[in-house]
Amino acid sequence: MTQPHDNWAEFYDFIYENSYGNLYNELTQKSIQFITQLNNVKNIFDFGCGTGRLAVPLAQNDYTVYAFDKSTGMLNEVKRKRDELNLKNLIIQGRNVDKLAGKIDLALAVFTVLNYIVTDSGMDETISLLAGVLTPNGRVFIDIPYDNFFLSATILNIQGNPTRKVWLNEIEDSGVYEYNETCSGNFNGIEFSYSEHLQIRHWKEAELLEKFNKAGFTKQVNLTKNFPRVNSSYYILEKEN
Ligand SMILES: C[S@@+](CC[C@H](N)C(=O)[O-])C[C@H]1O[C@@H](n2cnc3c(N)ncnc32)[C@H](O)[C@@H]1O
Repeated sequence: MTQPHDNWAEFYDFIYENSYGNLYNELTQKSIQFITQLNNVKNIFDFGCGTGRLAVPLAQNDYTVYAFDKSTGMLNEVKRKRDELNLKNLIIQGRNVDKLAGKIDLALAVFTVLNYIVTDSGMDETISLLAGVLTPNGRVFIDIPYDNFFLSATILNIQGNPTRKVWLNEIEDSGVYEYNETCSGNFNGIEFSYSEHLQIRHWKEAELLEKFNKAGFTKQVNLTKNFPRVNSSYYILEKEN
């Protein structure tokens, strides 16, 4: 079944780099800098890795990275980069993560990935999947968009290359929003145009942290001050041994 992001994965990097400019690359650099300073990290699981924004540079920094995403289109982009850069330590992880149980030192779930999960049961399953792959004192690195992200109906409206509009409609005060996007542009001489419709959920910070806490992530370090200007809180959560 086609998943969100499948039909524009090959343009995704171009679109994000040109929608957010320096801020996007700055966020990537800051994230890599932060992760590479953590002790005792060898194996990384990138949940919702997208096109490998973090997975690729982390593999280039000699970590073993397991890239996991539900969009085949996005994973194809990771594969393309892996092959171009000959990164044997970048592994495309299939849906069954049993083999990773207890092996991962650090799991990533960043750049709004968790907001794509819209049900309580879905979030509980995801947190349990993350907990399951981690070593006894393994950590997870997450972001949680600020409440104000969901207050403005229009998230983005830019003209140029790309011309892109992103807007949200809340579904009956449920905290779940229809995410709508239309975008067109020219990438390397290829004209593209797509629209995307999916659901995202406004998870409140306390609510999400409580879910992680209940799943055994009892140590929570707030890193938001290290990631200014991005409109999200950042946390490292550590699983209790
Ligand atoms: C905004 S992108 C972020 C990509 C990447 N984490 C980054 O930092 O650039 C969100 C990604 O999460 C993926 N995703 C959403 N829900 C997911 C799920 N339940 N399981 C795996 N991947 C998921 C999407 O396919 C998409 O590639």
